[in-house]
Amino acid sequence: MRKPMMAGNWKMNKTIPEAVALAKAIHDAVAGYNNVDSVICPTALCLPGVQAALQGSSVALGAQNMHWADSGAYTGEISPLMLKGLVSYVIIGHSERRQYFNETDETVNKKVLAALAHGLTPIVCVGESLEQNKSNQAHTVISLQVQDALNGLTSDQVPSVIIAYEPLWAIGTGLAATPEQACETCKTTVRGTLAQIYDNETAQNTRILYGGSTNEKNIGEIMQQLDIDGALIGGAALKVESYAAMVRITSELYK
Ligand code: 13P
Repeated sequence: MRKPMMAGNWKMNKTIPEAVALAKAIHDAVAGYNNVDSVICPTALCLPGVQAALQGSSVALGAQNMHWADSGAYTGEISPLMLKGLVSYVIIGHSERRQYFNETDETVNKKVLAALAHGLTPIVCVGESLEQNKSNQAHTVISLQVQDALNGLTSDQVPSVIIAYEPLWAIGTGLAATPEQACETCKTTVRGTLAQIYDNETAQNTRILYGGSTNEKNIGEIMQQLDIDGALIGGAALKVESYAAMVRITSELYK
């Protein structure tokens, strides 16, 4: 069975003291819900402080991005070597990085390979824009993003990758995909593509998250969908009450 995951992407929010305080509050609020993987992804600057705050906690830490090289002349970037030992997960190819920082399927693939080479679990984001959705291109776009992101991976490596389906039109808009819509894309397009390039077993063993305007009100219905294994949460992950409620609701559903 695929273990459910509630991953909070804090994006460019929280100063170091604020991040540490939120992490401590989350650590206390989700203690005991061990049948859910709780992950928080603060900004890179906050990672050491948050790691210290999470000592002895079941809450895992993730980064929001990284470069693929171990070191070098890449001003402003952080490398997998720097993240190793600090985080367990790294978000790769978030639509905001693709949109504002020119990330391509090719750089996403390099980062996925680098993450795995350093023992980090990549959370790879895929998803279609509103225009692509309206012109019925979602399946083709997402399927290609999945294929390109995983280029060069063996079927043994794929279940070590987490894929997050985040339709761009649902991110930060308050307009979540319907649970059925989200599940259909996770099932037919994301898992279907994995089955097509690898095999059904690989597809069944890989966790697929949904992201886009999830909160404590809609997470129950979303997590009842068989092909959705968790959520990549933006805004609602910045408040301990809503994030902890999402973990609690998921934990109840998986009992
Ligand atoms: P919201 O939950 O704020 O829509 O953000 C989703 C997201 O982009 C998570 O990576």
